[in-house]
Amino acid sequence: MLILGIETSCDETSAAVIEESAVLSNVISSQAVHLQFGGVVPELASRAHLRKIIPIVETSLAKAGKTLHQIDGLAVTHGPGLIGALLVGVNYVKGLAAVLQKPFVGVNHIEGHVYSNFLGESGLEPPLLCLIVSGGHTQLVVIAEHLKYRLIGTTRDDAVGEAFDKVAKLLGLPYPGGPQVDKLAKTGDPGYVNFPIGLGRENTFDFSYSGLKTAVLNFVNRLDAEERKARLADICASFQKAAVAALVEKTLRAARTYQVHRIAVAGGVAANSLLRSALKEQAEAYHLQVFFPEMQYCTDNAAMIARAGLERLRRGFRSGLSLNAYPSLQLGEEKG
Ligand code: KG4
Ligand code: ZN
Repeated sequence: MLILGIETSCDETSAAVIEESAVLSNVISSQAVHLQFGGVVPELASRAHLRKIIPIVETSLAKAGKTLHQIDGLAVTHGPGLIGALLVGVNYVKGLAAVLQKPFVGVNHIEGHVYSNFLGESGLEPPLLCLIVSGGHTQLVVIAEHLKYRLIGTTRDDAVGEAFDKVAKLLGLPYPGGPQVDKLAKTGDPGYVNFPIGLGRENTFDFSYSGLKTAVLNFVNRLDAEERKARLADICASFQKAAVAALVEKTLRAARTYQVHRIAVAGGVAANSLLRSALKEQAEAYHLQVFFPEMQYCTDNAAMIARAGLERLRRGFRSGLSLNAYPSLQLGEEKG
C-alpha cells in the first residue's frame, strides 16, 4: 500500500509517502518563526501550516516519484496537539480524500511516535513494551498486539522532554532545549551534582520530573554568574544523568514484571544520546532487545503518521468527513 501521511500537530509541517514500511519521502518544514518567543505560539503555527501544507505535499510526492492518483490511502494527525494547527492538516486531508475518492484515517500523534519504530526493516513486532518520551508525554505502555495499548505508567507532573526544555531555559539555552542539553552534557561531568531521581525508590512505573527541575533551579540559583557559565556542561550532564536513570530503571523493571522481551522507545527524547546508549547497555544484562527509531524519525514527522495509518487502513479503520481534531486525544482513545 502507498500511503500519504500529513503531520501538523505542533510547529512542524510535514508530509511523507511510504510504501509498506519503506519511506519514499519525508519532508519536514520546521517553523523558525517561534524561535524569537522561546516557545511555540499557537496562532503563528496555524498560519505557517496553512502557507506550507500544499508546497510540502507537492515536494513530498515529487521526491517519492509518485502522483496523488497512485496513492492508496491518506493518514493525518488528528490529536493530541494545538487545535488550530491540527485543524489545518485534518481539513486539508478531508478535502483531498474527498476529491480523490480515496480512504483516509485519523492517527493519534503518539501512536505515530510508537510506529516510527516500525519504519524501514526494524524487524520489530508485538508484544512489546514502549517507552514514550516527548515534550508532552512520559508513558510506559504494553502493546500485546498492534494498535492495542495498556498504560502501566505515566508522569505525575512534567513530561521528561518538558523538563529538558525547562532546565535548558533556566540555563539560558535556546528552545527546544533537549538537543542543547544533550550536546553540552557530552563534555560535562555527570558526577558534579547528585540530583534526585523522581520516584526512584517507589514501587511504581510512574514518573515525576518537577522535583528534579526544581532541584536544578535551586542549585543554579546558588551559583554566581561566573560559576554558572564555567559549570554549564557539568550541570547539563548531572541533570541528564538523573533524568535518564529514572527512564532506564523503570523501563527495565516493567519489561521484567510484564515479561516482555522487546522494548521500543518513541518520541522526541528517543533522540537523547545517553538514553540510547544506557538503555541498550543495561538491557543486555537481562537479554532484552531494545529498539530506537532512526534519529530522523524521533522528532515530529509525517512518515511515522503514515506508518501508523497504514496499520489502521490495513485493518479496515476508516475516517469520514466528520473527522475532527482533538487537542487532548489519549493513546488508544478512538475518535472517528
Ligand atoms: O516528540 P516531539 O518532537 O514533540 C512532541 O510531540 O512533544 O518531542 C519534542 C521534545 C522536546 O521536549 C525536545 O526538547 C525533546 O523532545 N528532545 C530531546 C532531544 N531531542 C529532542 N530531549 C533530550 N535529548 C535530545 N537529544
Ligand atoms: Zn511528537
